[in-house]
Amino acid sequence: MSIKKIGVLTSGGDAPGMNAAIRSVVRYAIYHKLEVMGILRGYEGLINEELMPMNHRSVSNIINRGGTILKTARSERFMAEEGQGLAVEVIRKNKIDGLVLIGGDGTYRGGNCLSEKWKIPCVGVPCTIDNDLNGTDATIGSDTAVNTALDAIDKIRDTATSMERIFVVEVMGRSSGFIAMQVALAGGSEDVIIPGRELDYETMCHEIVNGNLRGKVSWIIIVAEGTSSASEVAQEILKRTDLETREVVLGHVQRGGSPTATDRILATRLGAAAVDLLLKGETNKAVGIVADKVNVVDFETATKEKPVSFEELYRLLKILT
Ligand code: F6P
Repeated sequence: MSIKKIGVLTSGGDAPGMNAAIRSVVRYAIYHKLEVMGILRGYEGLINEELMPMNHRSVSNIINRGGTILKTARSERFMAEEGQGLAVEVIRKNKIDGLVLIGGDGTYRGGNCLSEKWKIPCVGVPCTIDNDLNGTDATIGSDTAVNTALDAIDKIRDTATSMERIFVVEVMGRSSGFIAMQVALAGGSEDVIIPGRELDYETMCHEIVNGNLRGKVSWIIIVAEGTSSASEVAQEILKRTDLETREVVLGHVQRGGSPTATDRILATRLGAAAVDLLLKGETNKAVGIVADKVNVVDFETATKEKPVSFEELYRLLKILT
């Protein structure tokens, strides 16, 4: 079947670079004489038939903007067969021949279901700050999130140094630990609590007390979301060392802001690559970039746990501390 009209949606947590990806999908598709429908609010908007035709100008001046002009949501209804059936009716009624799904693992699971069970051609573009998808070296948004968190941590360091305190900073990343390890290394943090490494309070506090005896007066300890919490770690450090400790949860600040050049370029390349796949008649696939080349995996592979080891980076961090 030749593709004439595609739909594009963003779903799950927003990530910087989503707009750049939408722009690329829309303009690349128009270049290839396709009609493009923007679907608002992810799968939820699809069920509710929240559609808008898009043209070249619909995506003007958005490459530099955070968030997503298509809005995004986490749809409970789409998880059930009934919601999926409603979404498929909307797709058929509007003669949409294929979908570009921009998002993370939840978005991909939806795409897997639409393409396998409901036979709707779907291609995914990896866009999440967590960098937890297979088939790509980086997901769109992760570079910006790391830089945003790093900027905040650099500022916290000013207070930590001036007031001679310990700061425990919790960063996002779901269960991947990517942001935590990156900012810990780039920010010269004293320690990082990441998935795959045991949280060893004894060693950590021993190092803090010993350092303090030698005259070291400030620490930044990064906590990856999902391993513990900034407040729990700060309380435990205070209890064991009696040194003034503060906690900071960076939270959703990491999801916003203008995307870095790296994320804009990634989004631009991957949006076009996704349209290319639909034009070739492919479905149930996710695009990515590996070693600077476009790479394609199926949705199931993309959402399997990403095999990462932080051992080498952690060792380096501890040597340099
Ligand atoms: O997946 C992106 C992310 O920001 C995760 O790092 C975090 O665990 C989650 O989304 C938070 O989701 P919400 O914004 O729905 O609270």
